[in-house]
Amino acid sequence: MALSLGGRTFAPFPVNHSGVFLKAVRSNGLPLFPWRHSPWRRTGNVLDPEMKAFLEENTEVTNRGSLTPEIRLRLLTPRCKFWWQRADLWPYSDPYWAVYWPGGQAVSRYLLDNPDVVRGRSVLDLGSGCGATAIAAKMGGASKILANDIDPIAGMAITLNCELNQLNPFPVLTKNILDLEQDKWDLVVLGDMFYDEDLADSLHQWLKNCFWAHRTRVLIGDPGRPQFSGHSIQHQLHKVVEYSLPEPTRKENNGLTTSTVWDFRP
Ligand SMILES: C[S@@+](CC[C@H](N)C(=O)[O-])C[C@H]1O[C@@H](n2cnc3c(N)ncnc32)[C@H](O)[C@@H]1O
Repeated sequence: MALSLGGRTFAPFPVNHSGVFLKAVRSNGLPLFPWRHSPWRRTGNVLDPEMKAFLEENTEVTNRGSLTPEIRLRLLTPRCKFWWQRADLWPYSDPYWAVYWPGGQAVSRYLLDNPDVVRGRSVLDLGSGCGATAIAAKMGGASKILANDIDPIAGMAITLNCELNQLNPFPVLTKNILDLEQDKWDLVVLGDMFYDEDLADSLHQWLKNCFWAHRTRVLIGDPGRPQFSGHSIQHQLHKVVEYSLPEPTRKENNGLTTSTVWDFRP
């Protein structure tokens, strides 16, 4: 999957975690991420003031054009200067957290409309991006939430987005947990995570283990990406609900028109 903004295209994300940091090295060799060794690599909500200022200056607060107008988010929009600039001028890793993807929109809509699914439950949002689905879980009354994303900047954006919605920030974990044993969660939610075949295979295995170890419920939002529709996971899915995507999301996503929530039952 490639991210197109203002007519330019970001390369597909690095599946390898180290890719995030390779881009963070300036020509003088100094790491650009001041929080590289900070609690952000684990869990925490401390915002580096410089990074906070950068995110606030280069994103727009919006609740328009998505399936969940209840949630306000800092996103990269045509009103932001980097929308129009060459992709290589963006000084950090590709900003996938700055887009609210159709898969995440569908799961978030479903949680907001069906708070019983999350109320009093522990929820892991895997590949959280802007954090909208974790925010929807919190709005629905989840008792414990963890947002996980391998991009440390996503971690900061998620905390800012919590504050925007008057929510106490929940923990964010920015390491790759797909190599680790599964903790016990009542519900794992994933929005638009099946965009790469190798990642899809790893996720499938990890989610199966999660289900068999803890009977965790797994909800997946996807707008019909080929890496998902053509994956063997299809035999273990039950359709929950399909949403028609709003026009702005269709435009940003090359004409995708719907997004579906699936229940994974291996
Ligand atoms: C297409 S975005 C979806 C973001 C969000 N769920 C949404 O729907 O708006 C995929 C996200 O997954 C993250 N990601 C990729 N590989 C990951 C991994 N192994 N573990 C956790 N996050 C990962 C990326 O950094 C990115 O933010």
